[in-house]
Amino acid sequence: MARKRVAILISGRGSNMTALIEAAADPDFPAEIVLVLSNRADAGGLARAAEAGIATAVIDHKAYGSRAEFDAAMDARLRADAIDLVCLAGFMRLLTDGFVEGWRDRMINIHPSLLPLFPGLHTHERAIEAGMRLHGCTVHFVRAQMDSGPIIGQAAVPIALDDTPDTLSKRVLTAEHQLYPLALAFVASGLASVENERLVMQGDVPADLAGMLVSPHFGG
Ligand code: GRF
Repeated sequence: MARKRVAILISGRGSNMTALIEAAADPDFPAEIVLVLSNRADAGGLARAAEAGIATAVIDHKAYGSRAEFDAAMDARLRADAIDLVCLAGFMRLLTDGFVEGWRDRMINIHPSLLPLFPGLHTHERAIEAGMRLHGCTVHFVRAQMDSGPIIGQAAVPIALDDTPDTLSKRVLTAEHQLYPLALAFVASGLASVENERLVMQGDVPADLAGMLVSPHFGG
């Protein structure tokens, strides 16, 4: 089966982008990263993508009069590059309903909390504040409402009593870097898809393989 053509949308440092690029460097990985697109020219991830030999593009949201025009410019670029799947990885712009619908079930996001808990920003701070003992990250199909949509996989990490948002974010980020490539592999290979707004596994996916989408490898 042909590898799926993936674009990664970033706004910043791009550590999840790097994890996806590294996983896709394996020719057996079911997706290839063909484009990294940023809304900010100063996103650190752009240089890392270029070093890896991946095409990069900047579409500056400030150059457009409305969200719809900005999204239309991104959409045009993605379609010109024959992109099959879009991965949001620290992309800090709200997307219009039209754009989200246009990529329905073909766009996924990673969020640093166990959704539906803590959508939005400052998730680590809020999890500590709430006295949670577990926190984590979620990869999900993107829907119009921010940080919502059918969940593909989640990884949980413990919260230590002396954690700060910074120490906790590092632990979660390690889990993110394991979870995101796995989730992308499941979607790109067609093993994972959506029915009635829930994740379904196509065919006979062995339980241990499907189970990898839950706290992958975490803790050894
Ligand atoms: C990650 O925590 C991701 O979950 C969130 O934004 C952050 C991006 O970090 N959506 P990076 O740019 O991938 O390092």
